[in-house]
Amino acid sequence: MKAAVYTNYGPPEVAQLKEIPKPIPAADEVLVKVYASTVNRTDAGFRSAEYFISRFWTGLLKPKHPVLGCEFAGKVVEIGENVTSFKKGDDVFGFNDITCGGHGEFLTIAETDAITTMPIGLNFIESAPIAEGAHYALGNIRASKIERGQNALVYGATGAIGSAAVQLLKHFGVNVVAVSNTKNVALVKSLGADSVIDYQTQDFTKTDKKFQFIFDAVGKSSFNQCKPLLTEKGIYISTELGKNAENIFYALTTPIFGGKKVLFPIPSINKQDVIFLKELVERGEFKPIIDRHYKLDQIVEAYKYVETGQKTGNVVIIVSE
Ligand SMILES: NC(=O)c1ccc[n+]([C@@H]2O[C@H](COP(=O)([O-])OP(=O)(O)OC[C@H]3O[C@@H](n4cnc5c(N)ncnc54)[C@H](OP(=O)(O)O)[C@@H]3O)[C@@H](O)[C@H]2O)c1
Repeated sequence: MKAAVYTNYGPPEVAQLKEIPKPIPAADEVLVKVYASTVNRTDAGFRSAEYFISRFWTGLLKPKHPVLGCEFAGKVVEIGENVTSFKKGDDVFGFNDITCGGHGEFLTIAETDAITTMPIGLNFIESAPIAEGAHYALGNIRASKIERGQNALVYGATGAIGSAAVQLLKHFGVNVVAVSNTKNVALVKSLGADSVIDYQTQDFTKTDKKFQFIFDAVGKSSFNQCKPLLTEKGIYISTELGKNAENIFYALTTPIFGGKKVLFPIPSINKQDVIFLKELVERGEFKPIIDRHYKLDQIVEAYKYVETGQKTGNVVIIVSE
């Protein structure tokens, strides 16, 4: 089968299109013919190993699993002998950041992992980007313990994580102030944000509002900058480590004092999460934003674009037509 293979960590060019053997499903696994995947910041982070710590997941010296693509949408074409919850012909989507595989024509995944049938009415391209940004957003929102009627500020509301966070917070009944670029103000409003601060014309720290939760979905702010905007026991979460990994330091120290706190939750995802996201999509409460598509043989260009840090929502890879 055709796949974008990386055998060393490095720049986008380490991902090369090759012919490799088709995987064989184990007894508890399904074989999925992949129609669409994404290139996201998780794939890019694993491939570059920019943060050395990512190698504890992907392999210390070399990648353990040579095909990236943690998101996928496709069709079940074979099932292991013990599989009961899927059948051949099911259209499925999911997320797997351990063995990945979405950047190849076929992947295997255990039926109990983060995979479920596609939302009714969506195609492969629309289903592939459901889980990556949204599960990070969901994990961070849950960790913040924000409640219905409280206030949240989402900084970087147009990335894969931020655009999901705005929609999920609205689903949970939270009042959302979103921060974005001028060109994206209308988009962020359409996601349900109650108000939008355009960071190109306004300083978001000058707002009079107080927030129970500030979520920096692109890691461009700091706890100290946001502290005055937090309520007495407000929570600050960033998707990045911050300068000198300060967000880790604050996550270890601020809980001791009982006031405003930084959290740094470890991301996780399971089957219930993808089912939850699928149901939100079907109810029209969550729609992954798609910026652009690339074909699998354009994977290097896709990585380069994603690594500008300026994508709006998600970048889809068309693996099979
Ligand atoms: N630790 C992990 O495993 C992990 C995994 C995934 C992601 N992440 C991190 O999470 C962050 C978000 O990921 P993502 O995929 O959601 O990001 P993304 O889609 O790449 O975010 C792009 C968005 O960021 C906004 N942005 C860029 N520079 C900005 C600035 N200076 N101020 C405000 N907004 C800015 C842009 O919006 P505007 O056009 O409105 O400026 C753009 O829409 C990244 O930093 C990524 O590294 C970490």
